[in-house]
Amino acid sequence: MVSVHGLQVLASLIFESLWLIITFPYKGGINERYRNNLTQSLKVLFCRKSLAFPILDAKIVSFYSNSFLFSLTAWQFPRVTQGLNNYNVRYDKNSIWLVEAKNRSKDDPIIIYLHGGGYYCQTAPTQAQSILAIYSLVEPSKREKLSVLFLDYSLASYGNELLTQLHELTATYTRLAKEGNTDFRFIGDSAGGHLSTTFTQYLYKEQNPELPYPRSLILVSPWVKLGADKIQHTEGHSYYDNEARDVVQYSFFSEPDRGALLVNDNNVQTLTVSPGNTPDKKNSDWARIPTYSKPGYSVFVVLGEHESFLDDILEFSEYALRSPLKRPAESGGVYDPKKHSWTNGGGSNEAYFEVFIEPQGVHDAGLFLENAVLGEIEDNPNLKVTQINDKEYFGIKRIVEFLDKTL
Ligand SMILES: *[C@@H]1O[C@H](CO)[C@@H](O)[C@H](O)[C@H]1NC(C)=O
Ligand SMILES: *[C@@H]1O[C@H](CO)[C@@H](O)[C@H](O)[C@H]1NC(C)=O
Repeated sequence: MVSVHGLQVLASLIFESLWLIITFPYKGGINERYRNNLTQSLKVLFCRKSLAFPILDAKIVSFYSNSFLFSLTAWQFPRVTQGLNNYNVRYDKNSIWLVEAKNRSKDDPIIIYLHGGGYYCQTAPTQAQSILAIYSLVEPSKREKLSVLFLDYSLASYGNELLTQLHELTATYTRLAKEGNTDFRFIGDSAGGHLSTTFTQYLYKEQNPELPYPRSLILVSPWVKLGADKIQHTEGHSYYDNEARDVVQYSFFSEPDRGALLVNDNNVQTLTVSPGNTPDKKNSDWARIPTYSKPGYSVFVVLGEHESFLDDILEFSEYALRSPLKRPAESGGVYDPKKHSWTNGGGSNEAYFEVFIEPQGVHDAGLFLENAVLGEIEDNPNLKVTQINDKEYFGIKRIVEFLDKTL
Protein backbone atom coordinates (compact mmCIF):
# COMPACT_ATOMS: atom_id res chain seq x y z
CA MET A 1 0.00 0.00 0.00
CA VAL A 2 1.14 3.49 -0.81
CA SER A 3 1.10 6.00 2.04
CA VAL A 4 -0.75 9.32 1.91
CA HIS A 5 2.61 11.07 1.61
CA GLY A 6 3.51 8.78 -1.28
CA LEU A 7 0.27 9.63 -3.06
CA GLN A 8 1.04 13.32 -2.60
CA VAL A 9 4.42 12.86 -4.27
CA LEU A 10 2.77 10.95 -7.13
CA ALA A 11 0.15 13.67 -7.58
CA SER A 12 2.83 16.38 -7.53
CA LEU A 13 4.81 14.48 -10.17
CA ILE A 14 1.80 14.40 -12.48
CA PHE A 15 0.78 17.99 -11.79
CA GLU A 16 4.29 19.47 -12.05
CA SER A 17 5.00 17.55 -15.28
CA LEU A 18 1.88 18.98 -16.88
CA TRP A 19 2.76 22.44 -15.58
CA LEU A 20 6.26 22.16 -17.01
CA ILE A 21 4.91 21.13 -20.42
CA ILE A 22 2.33 23.93 -20.50
CA THR A 23 4.68 26.69 -19.34
CA PHE A 24 7.77 25.51 -21.26
CA PRO A 25 7.10 27.59 -24.42
CA TYR A 26 7.33 30.88 -22.54
CA LYS A 27 9.08 30.07 -19.23
CA GLY A 28 11.55 27.48 -20.47
CA GLY A 29 12.81 24.37 -18.69
CA ILE A 30 13.27 23.42 -15.07
CA ASN A 31 16.64 25.11 -14.45
CA GLU A 32 19.43 27.02 -16.18
CA ARG A 33 21.16 23.92 -17.51
CA TYR A 34 18.06 22.60 -19.27
CA ARG A 35 16.29 25.91 -19.95
CA ASN A 36 15.97 25.01 -23.64
CA ASN A 37 15.27 21.33 -23.29
CA LEU A 38 11.88 19.98 -22.25
CA THR A 39 12.89 16.31 -22.35
CA GLN A 40 15.82 16.86 -20.04
CA SER A 41 13.69 19.06 -17.77
CA LEU A 42 11.08 16.31 -17.44
CA LYS A 43 13.83 13.81 -16.65
CA VAL A 44 15.14 16.06 -13.87
CA LEU A 45 11.61 16.31 -12.48
CA PHE A 46 11.08 12.55 -12.69
CA CYS A 47 14.37 11.80 -10.89
CA ARG A 48 13.55 14.38 -8.23
CA LYS A 49 10.10 12.96 -7.56
CA SER A 50 11.34 9.36 -7.60
CA LEU A 51 13.78 10.25 -4.84
CA ALA A 52 11.10 12.25 -3.00
CA PHE A 53 8.92 9.18 -2.43
CA PRO A 54 8.96 7.89 1.12
CA ILE A 55 11.45 5.03 1.04
CA LEU A 56 8.92 2.20 1.20
CA ASP A 57 6.73 3.85 -1.46
CA ALA A 58 9.64 4.07 -3.90
CA LYS A 59 8.53 0.57 -4.93
CA ILE A 60 6.14 2.44 -7.26
CA VAL A 61 9.11 3.34 -9.47
CA SER A 62 11.22 0.29 -8.55
CA PHE A 63 8.90 -2.61 -9.32
CA TYR A 64 11.01 -4.17 -12.10
CA SER A 65 14.11 -6.32 -11.85
CA ASN A 66 17.47 -5.36 -13.27
CA SER A 67 17.44 -8.41 -15.55
CA PHE A 68 14.19 -7.13 -17.01
CA LEU A 69 15.70 -3.68 -17.46
CA PHE A 70 18.73 -5.09 -19.30
CA SER A 71 16.46 -7.16 -21.57
CA LEU A 72 14.49 -4.05 -22.40
CA THR A 73 17.72 -2.16 -23.09
CA ALA A 74 18.88 -4.96 -25.41
CA TRP A 75 15.63 -4.72 -27.31
CA GLN A 76 16.02 -0.93 -27.65
CA PHE A 77 19.72 -1.05 -28.57
CA PRO A 78 20.28 -4.33 -30.43
CA ARG A 79 23.46 -3.32 -32.23
CA VAL A 80 25.22 -2.11 -29.10
CA THR A 81 24.24 -5.07 -26.95
CA GLN A 82 24.38 -8.05 -29.30
CA GLY A 83 28.18 -8.10 -29.38
CA LEU A 84 28.50 -8.11 -25.60
CA ASN A 85 29.71 -11.45 -24.31
CA ASN A 86 27.57 -12.77 -21.43
CA TYR A 87 25.34 -9.70 -21.47
CA ASN A 88 22.68 -9.98 -18.75
CA VAL A 89 24.10 -13.26 -17.48
CA ARG A 90 24.18 -13.60 -13.72
CA TYR A 91 27.58 -13.95 -12.04
CA ASP A 92 26.18 -14.62 -8.58
CA LYS A 93 23.10 -13.91 -6.51
CA ASN A 94 23.81 -10.20 -6.40
CA SER A 95 25.51 -9.42 -9.68
CA ILE A 96 24.98 -9.54 -13.42
CA TRP A 97 27.51 -9.21 -16.25
CA LEU A 98 26.92 -6.38 -18.68
CA VAL A 99 29.89 -7.75 -20.54
CA GLU A 100 32.49 -10.32 -19.65
CA ALA A 101 35.54 -10.06 -21.88
CA LYS A 102 36.09 -13.17 -23.99
CA ASN A 103 39.04 -15.25 -22.77
CA ARG A 104 39.35 -12.96 -19.78
CA SER A 105 42.55 -13.45 -17.86
CA LYS A 106 42.63 -12.95 -14.11
CA ASP A 107 44.46 -9.66 -14.18
CA ASP A 108 42.21 -8.06 -16.79
CA PRO A 109 40.18 -5.18 -15.38
CA ILE A 110 36.65 -5.66 -14.08
CA ILE A 111 34.56 -2.55 -13.62
CA ILE A 112 31.88 -3.04 -11.00
CA TYR A 113 29.04 -0.62 -11.59
CA LEU A 114 27.24 0.53 -8.42
CA HIS A 115 24.06 2.33 -9.34
CA GLY A 116 22.62 5.38 -7.62
CA GLY A 117 19.07 6.07 -6.50
CA GLY A 118 19.38 6.74 -2.77
CA TYR A 119 19.64 2.94 -2.18
CA TYR A 120 15.86 2.77 -2.57
CA CYS A 121 15.18 3.41 -6.29
CA GLN A 122 15.79 0.73 -8.88
CA THR A 123 18.32 1.36 -11.65
CA ALA A 124 16.82 3.79 -14.17
CA PRO A 125 16.82 2.95 -17.90
CA THR A 126 18.97 6.05 -18.43
CA GLN A 127 21.62 4.68 -16.05
CA ALA A 128 21.72 1.34 -17.88
CA GLN A 129 22.11 3.18 -21.18
CA SER A 130 24.83 5.51 -19.89
CA ILE A 131 26.98 2.72 -18.48
CA LEU A 132 26.75 0.86 -21.80
CA ALA A 133 27.68 4.07 -23.61
CA ILE A 134 30.74 4.51 -21.40
CA TYR A 135 31.88 0.96 -22.14
CA SER A 136 31.23 1.35 -25.87
CA LEU A 137 33.29 4.55 -26.10
CA VAL A 138 36.41 3.15 -24.44
CA GLU A 139 39.27 2.79 -26.88
CA PRO A 140 38.88 -0.60 -28.65
CA SER A 141 42.26 -2.06 -27.61
CA LYS A 142 41.42 -1.44 -23.92
CA ARG A 143 37.78 -2.42 -24.30
CA GLU A 144 38.71 -5.85 -25.62
CA LYS A 145 40.04 -6.82 -22.19
CA LEU A 146 37.45 -4.96 -20.15
CA SER A 147 34.53 -6.54 -18.27
CA VAL A 148 31.65 -4.73 -16.60
CA LEU A 149 29.78 -6.33 -13.74
CA PHE A 150 26.59 -4.78 -12.40
CA LEU A 151 25.88 -5.05 -8.67
CA ASP A 152 22.24 -6.05 -8.31
CA TYR A 153 21.97 -4.97 -4.67
CA SER A 154 18.85 -5.21 -2.52
CA LEU A 155 16.84 -2.02 -2.25
CA ALA A 156 15.88 -0.17 0.90
CA SER A 157 12.38 0.26 -0.54
CA TYR A 158 11.97 -3.48 0.08
CA GLY A 159 13.17 -3.17 3.66
CA ASN A 160 16.92 -3.63 3.12
CA GLU A 161 18.50 -0.83 5.10
CA LEU A 162 22.23 -0.02 5.21
CA LEU A 163 24.68 -1.83 5.31
CA THR A 164 22.98 -4.66 3.39
CA GLN A 165 24.34 -3.36 0.09
CA LEU A 166 27.90 -3.08 1.42
CA HIS A 167 27.75 -6.70 2.55
CA GLU A 168 26.35 -7.84 -0.79
CA LEU A 169 29.19 -6.04 -2.57
CA THR A 170 31.67 -7.66 -0.19
CA ALA A 171 30.27 -11.11 -0.98
CA THR A 172 30.57 -10.64 -4.75
CA TYR A 173 33.99 -8.97 -4.48
CA THR A 174 35.28 -11.77 -2.26
CA ARG A 175 34.07 -14.38 -4.70
CA LEU A 176 35.78 -12.65 -7.63
CA ALA A 177 38.99 -12.25 -5.64
CA LYS A 178 38.95 -15.91 -4.55
CA GLU A 179 38.74 -16.89 -8.21
CA GLY A 180 42.03 -15.06 -8.66
CA ASN A 181 40.85 -11.75 -10.16
CA THR A 182 43.03 -8.85 -9.15
CA ASP A 183 42.03 -5.69 -11.02
CA PHE A 184 38.83 -4.11 -9.70
CA ARG A 185 37.51 -0.69 -10.58
CA PHE A 186 34.26 0.91 -9.46
CA ILE A 187 31.94 3.28 -11.22
CA GLY A 188 29.49 4.61 -8.66
CA ASP A 189 26.95 7.39 -9.04
CA SER A 190 25.26 9.06 -6.09
CA ALA A 191 24.49 6.25 -3.59
CA GLY A 192 26.83 4.09 -5.70
CA GLY A 193 29.57 6.65 -5.03
CA HIS A 194 28.79 6.31 -1.35
CA LEU A 195 29.08 2.54 -1.64
CA SER A 196 32.41 2.83 -3.50
CA THR A 197 34.07 5.06 -0.91
CA THR A 198 32.66 3.37 2.19
CA PHE A 199 33.67 -0.01 0.78
CA THR A 200 37.31 1.10 0.61
CA GLN A 201 37.06 2.13 4.27
CA TYR A 202 35.45 -1.19 5.07
CA LEU A 203 38.33 -3.06 3.40
CA TYR A 204 40.76 -1.02 5.47
CA LYS A 205 38.86 -1.84 8.65
CA GLU A 206 38.72 -5.54 7.89
CA GLN A 207 42.40 -5.83 6.85
CA ASN A 208 41.68 -9.03 4.95
CA PRO A 209 44.87 -9.79 2.98
CA GLU A 210 42.89 -11.80 0.42
CA LEU A 211 40.96 -8.76 -0.76
CA PRO A 212 42.86 -6.31 -2.96
CA TYR A 213 41.90 -2.64 -2.89
CA PRO A 214 40.09 -1.28 -5.95
CA ARG A 215 42.56 0.09 -8.48
CA SER A 216 40.33 2.94 -9.49
CA LEU A 217 37.16 4.75 -8.43
CA ILE A 218 34.97 6.75 -10.76
CA LEU A 219 32.63 8.78 -8.59
CA VAL A 220 29.72 10.61 -10.19
CA SER A 221 28.11 13.02 -7.74
CA PRO A 222 29.01 10.71 -4.84
CA TRP A 223 26.76 10.90 -1.78
CA VAL A 224 29.56 11.30 0.72
CA LYS A 225 27.55 12.80 3.57
CA LEU A 226 24.27 11.09 4.39
CA GLY A 227 22.97 13.60 6.90
CA ALA A 228 23.08 17.31 6.04
CA ASP A 229 23.52 19.77 8.91
CA LYS A 230 20.75 22.33 9.44
CA ILE A 231 23.12 25.15 8.58
CA GLN A 232 23.55 23.66 5.11
CA HIS A 233 20.05 24.77 4.34
CA THR A 234 20.87 28.46 4.66
CA GLU A 235 21.97 30.95 2.03
CA GLY A 236 25.47 30.46 0.64
CA HIS A 237 25.27 26.68 1.01
CA SER A 238 24.67 24.46 -2.00
CA TYR A 239 21.66 22.63 -0.52
CA TYR A 240 19.90 25.95 -0.13
CA ASP A 241 21.08 27.71 -3.28
CA ASN A 242 20.31 24.76 -5.56
CA GLU A 243 17.05 23.60 -3.99
CA ALA A 244 14.97 24.72 -7.00
CA ARG A 245 17.47 23.51 -9.59
CA ASP A 246 18.58 20.09 -8.51
CA VAL A 247 17.31 16.56 -8.42
CA VAL A 248 18.17 16.28 -4.72
CA GLN A 249 16.28 18.70 -2.50
CA TYR A 250 16.95 19.35 1.16
CA SER A 251 13.20 19.51 1.87
CA PHE A 252 12.66 15.81 1.26
CA PHE A 253 16.18 14.54 1.79
CA SER A 254 16.20 15.76 5.38
CA GLU A 255 12.94 14.02 6.39
CA PRO A 256 13.69 12.22 9.67
CA ASP A 257 11.86 8.99 8.76
CA ARG A 258 13.89 8.78 5.53
CA GLY A 259 17.15 8.77 7.50
CA ALA A 260 15.76 6.36 10.09
CA LEU A 261 14.64 3.82 7.50
CA LEU A 262 17.87 3.98 5.56
CA VAL A 263 20.54 4.24 8.20
CA ASN A 264 18.77 2.12 10.81
CA ASP A 265 20.92 1.96 13.95
CA ASN A 266 24.28 2.34 12.19
CA ASN A 267 26.47 5.09 13.58
CA VAL A 268 26.41 7.80 10.95
CA GLN A 269 29.60 9.38 12.27
CA THR A 270 31.85 6.61 10.95
CA LEU A 271 33.87 6.27 7.76
CA THR A 272 32.09 3.08 6.73
CA VAL A 273 28.65 4.71 7.09
CA SER A 274 29.00 8.37 6.21
CA PRO A 275 32.47 9.86 5.69
CA GLY A 276 31.10 13.41 5.52
CA ASN A 277 29.49 13.09 8.93
CA THR A 278 32.64 12.03 10.76
CA PRO A 279 33.67 14.70 13.27
CA ASP A 280 37.39 14.90 12.56
CA LYS A 281 37.92 14.76 8.80
CA LYS A 282 41.52 14.30 7.76
CA ASN A 283 43.55 13.27 4.74
CA SER A 284 45.24 10.41 6.57
CA ASP A 285 41.89 8.56 6.82
CA TRP A 286 42.13 8.16 3.05
CA ALA A 287 45.84 8.32 2.30
CA ARG A 288 46.37 5.14 4.35
CA ILE A 289 44.33 3.33 1.67
CA PRO A 290 46.27 2.51 -1.54
CA THR A 291 43.36 3.53 -3.80
CA TYR A 292 43.91 7.14 -2.68
CA SER A 293 47.67 7.18 -2.40
CA LYS A 294 49.69 4.59 -4.30
CA PRO A 295 51.01 4.91 -7.85
CA GLY A 296 48.95 2.85 -10.29
CA TYR A 297 45.73 3.69 -8.44
CA SER A 298 43.34 6.47 -9.39
CA VAL A 299 40.21 8.38 -8.38
CA PHE A 300 37.94 10.44 -10.61
CA VAL A 301 35.16 12.75 -9.36
CA VAL A 302 32.57 14.63 -11.38
CA LEU A 303 29.89 16.84 -9.84
CA GLY A 304 27.49 19.59 -10.88
CA GLU A 305 27.84 23.29 -10.21
CA HIS A 306 24.12 23.44 -9.46
CA GLU A 307 23.75 20.39 -7.30
CA SER A 308 22.78 20.21 -3.64
CA PHE A 309 25.76 17.96 -2.79
CA LEU A 310 28.28 20.42 -4.29
CA ASP A 311 29.65 21.57 -0.91
CA ASP A 312 29.86 18.03 0.46
CA ILE A 313 31.60 16.61 -2.62
CA LEU A 314 34.12 19.47 -2.81
CA GLU A 315 34.84 19.00 0.88
CA PHE A 316 35.36 15.27 0.35
CA SER A 317 37.64 15.95 -2.62
CA GLU A 318 39.62 18.32 -0.45
CA TYR A 319 40.24 15.99 2.48
CA ALA A 320 40.42 12.69 0.58
CA LEU A 321 42.29 13.84 -2.55
CA ARG A 322 43.73 17.21 -1.45
CA SER A 323 41.85 18.92 -4.26
CA PRO A 324 42.06 22.71 -4.04
CA LEU A 325 38.80 23.21 -5.98
CA LYS A 326 36.37 25.63 -4.35
CA ARG A 327 32.83 26.44 -5.31
CA PRO A 328 33.29 28.55 -8.45
CA ALA A 329 31.59 31.87 -9.12
CA GLU A 330 28.47 31.37 -11.27
CA SER A 331 29.76 30.05 -14.59
CA GLY A 332 26.81 31.08 -16.72
CA GLY A 333 27.22 27.70 -18.38
CA VAL A 334 30.75 28.34 -19.64
CA TYR A 335 33.38 25.73 -18.84
CA ASP A 336 36.69 27.09 -17.61
CA PRO A 337 39.19 24.28 -16.98
CA LYS A 338 41.06 26.45 -14.47
CA LYS A 339 38.00 26.91 -12.26
CA HIS A 340 36.14 23.71 -13.01
CA SER A 341 38.78 21.03 -13.05
CA TRP A 342 41.80 19.83 -11.20
CA THR A 343 44.27 16.99 -11.49
CA ASN A 344 47.30 16.22 -9.37
CA GLY A 345 49.06 14.93 -12.48
CA GLY A 346 49.77 11.58 -10.82
CA GLY A 347 53.45 11.85 -9.90
CA SER A 348 55.59 8.74 -9.50
CA ASN A 349 54.84 8.51 -5.77
CA GLU A 350 51.13 9.10 -5.72
CA ALA A 351 47.76 7.97 -7.01
CA TYR A 352 46.27 9.84 -9.96
CA PHE A 353 43.29 12.14 -9.35
CA GLU A 354 40.91 14.12 -11.52
CA VAL A 355 38.00 16.30 -10.35
CA PHE A 356 35.52 18.06 -12.63
CA ILE A 357 32.65 20.47 -12.00
CA GLU A 358 30.06 20.57 -14.77
CA PRO A 359 28.95 24.18 -15.39
CA GLN A 360 25.33 24.52 -14.23
CA GLY A 361 25.27 20.73 -13.94
CA VAL A 362 22.81 18.96 -11.67
CA HIS A 363 23.16 15.85 -9.54
CA ASP A 364 24.31 12.69 -11.31
CA ALA A 365 23.89 14.14 -14.80
CA GLY A 366 26.52 11.78 -16.23
CA LEU A 367 24.48 8.66 -15.57
CA PHE A 368 20.92 10.04 -15.48
CA LEU A 369 20.86 12.68 -18.19
CA GLU A 370 23.51 11.88 -20.80
CA ASN A 371 22.11 8.56 -21.99
CA ALA A 372 21.14 9.96 -25.41
CA VAL A 373 24.69 9.28 -26.54
CA LEU A 374 23.85 5.57 -26.66
CA GLY A 375 21.43 6.30 -29.50
CA GLU A 376 24.30 7.92 -31.39
CA ILE A 377 26.46 4.84 -30.78
CA GLU A 378 23.64 2.54 -31.92
CA ASP A 379 23.59 4.48 -35.22
CA ASN A 380 27.36 4.60 -35.48
CA PRO A 381 29.14 1.84 -33.54
CA ASN A 382 32.52 3.34 -34.40
CA LEU A 383 31.74 6.67 -32.75
CA LYS A 384 34.78 7.96 -30.88
CA VAL A 385 34.78 9.86 -27.62
CA THR A 386 36.45 12.80 -29.38
CA GLN A 387 33.41 13.07 -31.65
CA ILE A 388 30.74 13.46 -28.99
CA ASN A 389 29.38 16.82 -27.85
CA ASP A 390 31.43 18.22 -24.97
CA LYS A 391 28.62 20.14 -23.30
CA GLU A 392 25.79 17.66 -23.74
CA TYR A 393 27.90 14.70 -22.60
CA PHE A 394 30.18 16.46 -20.13
CA GLY A 395 30.36 13.60 -17.64
CA ILE A 396 30.47 10.61 -19.97
CA LYS A 397 33.16 12.20 -22.11
CA ARG A 398 35.44 12.79 -19.13
CA ILE A 399 34.79 9.37 -17.64
CA VAL A 400 35.78 7.69 -20.91
CA GLU A 401 38.89 9.86 -21.26
CA PHE A 402 39.84 8.92 -17.71
CA LEU A 403 39.33 5.22 -18.46
CA ASP A 404 41.41 5.48 -21.62
CA LYS A 405 44.19 7.00 -19.51
CA THR A 406 44.03 4.63 -16.56
CA LEU A 407 43.01 1.24 -17.96
C1 LIG B 1 17.47 17.74 -25.46
O1 LIG B 1 18.40 16.81 -24.90
C2 LIG B 1 18.41 15.56 -25.55
C3 LIG B 1 19.28 14.64 -24.74
O2 LIG B 1 20.60 15.09 -24.63
C4 LIG B 1 18.87 15.73 -26.98
O3 LIG B 1 18.86 14.49 -27.63
C5 LIG B 1 17.94 16.70 -27.67
O4 LIG B 1 18.42 16.97 -28.97
C6 LIG B 1 17.84 18.01 -26.89
N1 LIG B 1 16.83 18.86 -27.49
C7 LIG B 1 17.04 20.15 -27.75
C8 LIG B 1 15.86 20.88 -28.30
O5 LIG B 1 18.11 20.70 -27.55
C1 LIG C 1 39.72 -17.40 -27.07
O1 LIG C 1 40.42 -18.60 -26.88
C2 LIG C 1 40.10 -19.60 -27.85
C3 LIG C 1 40.80 -20.88 -27.47
O2 LIG C 1 42.10 -20.66 -27.00
C4 LIG C 1 40.49 -19.08 -29.22
O3 LIG C 1 40.14 -20.04 -30.21
C5 LIG C 1 39.76 -17.79 -29.50
O4 LIG C 1 40.17 -17.23 -30.73
C6 LIG C 1 40.01 -16.78 -28.41
N1 LIG C 1 39.14 -15.62 -28.62
C7 LIG C 1 39.55 -14.37 -28.43
C8 LIG C 1 38.53 -13.32 -28.65
O5 LIG C 1 40.68 -14.08 -28.10
